[in-house]
Parts: sequence; C-alpha cells; structure tokens
Amino acid sequence: MGMIRQNIQMMISEEEIRQRVKELGRLIEADYSGKDLVVIGLLKGVFPFFADLVRAIDLDFHVTFMRISSYGFDLESSGKVKILQDIDTQISGKNVLIVEDIIDTGQTLAMTLEHLKTQSPASIRICVLLDKPSRRIVDVPVDYVGFSIKDVFVVGYGLDAREMYRNLPYIGIFHTESNLVT
Ligand code: IMP
Ligand code: MG
Repeated sequence: MGMIRQNIQMMISEEEIRQRVKELGRLIEADYSGKDLVVIGLLKGVFPFFADLVRAIDLDFHVTFMRISSYGFDLESSGKVKILQDIDTQISGKNVLIVEDIIDTGQTLAMTLEHLKTQSPASIRICVLLDKPSRRIVDVPVDYVGFSIKDVFVVGYGLDAREMYRNLPYIGIFHTESNLVT
C-alpha cells in the first residue's frame, strides 16, 4: 500500500473517491445536459479532483481555473482571501459550476461567488469534494458534495499541509507533532 507515513491516517480510500467522483459526474451530467456550461476549478488544491470529475461528466463544456489563496503558509485559514489568478473565459449568460477541493469556513467560496456573480452568468453552482459543515462561518449554498467530514485537518488528493502531500492518491487525517497517533 505504498510508503507508511506515521503522521497520516487513512480516511477516504482511492477506491471510495473513485466511486463518489463517478456519482457526482453522473449527477452533474444529468443537471447540465443541453446547457451551456463553464466548469471553473479553484487551484491549486482541486487539481486531482478536477481532472477526475471533468472526465466523469460526459458533456461538452469549457474548463477554466481561478487561483485563490486563503492560507498563506499556515494550517489555520487566515480569513484573508485573495484572487491570485482570474478566469480567462467569458461567463456572461452561461451556466457556471465552481469546483473546489474542500469547504471549511466558507470564506473562499463566498468571495469566489461574489466575484463571479458580477460577470452575470445565467446560473452558478458549487461542487466540493469535501465539506466540513461544523467549521462554517459564512453560509454558502453548496450543490454537490462528495463527502461530509468532521472537523479534522486532511491531506492528499490535492489537499496539502504546507504544500506537502497533494500527490497522495487517498485522503488522510494529518496529525501534527502534538497529536501524533502512536
Ligand atoms: P475556507 O475558505 O475556510 O472554506 O477554506 C477553504 C480552503 O482552505 C480550501 O481551499 C483549502 O485550501 C483549505 N483547507 C480547509 N480545510 C483544509 C484541510 O483540512 N486540509 C487542507 N486544506 C484545507
Ligand atoms: Mg484550496
């Protein structure tokens, strides 16, 4: 099963992710069939999920990316959300689906929504792989959720701890020195 990492405890396996992403793809496909769709991925964390999800949606649509930063170099959200890179696609009159790795406090997605709404799309929906509902500060309508999880810090499948572990094919709970599982 690959290298053993003492500080990471498996939470969602590669196979569970694969199954759920397929299901999300089918739901999205049914909802957007025959519609003009732009799928926007929020970098960097979304990259593996995005790649798998768009290939599970058997429709013709545009893809583009935004890069948002909320963390800096810390494990706690700074609450300061910045747009580092904007979309390069016209979304006015189109149906927009924002895809994000995880919704935590909601600040990143709230600000992304606000920003994209000013460009008058026909509709905007949100798809996240992970949802931590207990951490929400800002109320954001999320339309597609892969997995709802408790308040733990997770890494893998795009998610990082100080830019590490994005390449893990599974999602695991990250334990810092102070709460290491032994
Ligand atoms: P929010 O603005 O608080 O909803 O935070 C969203 C962003 O925080 C995500 O895009 C992630 O980059 C980051 N984040 C939140 N929780 C975790 C986690 O458990 N692991 C890694 N990154 C996380
Ligand atoms: Mg992120």
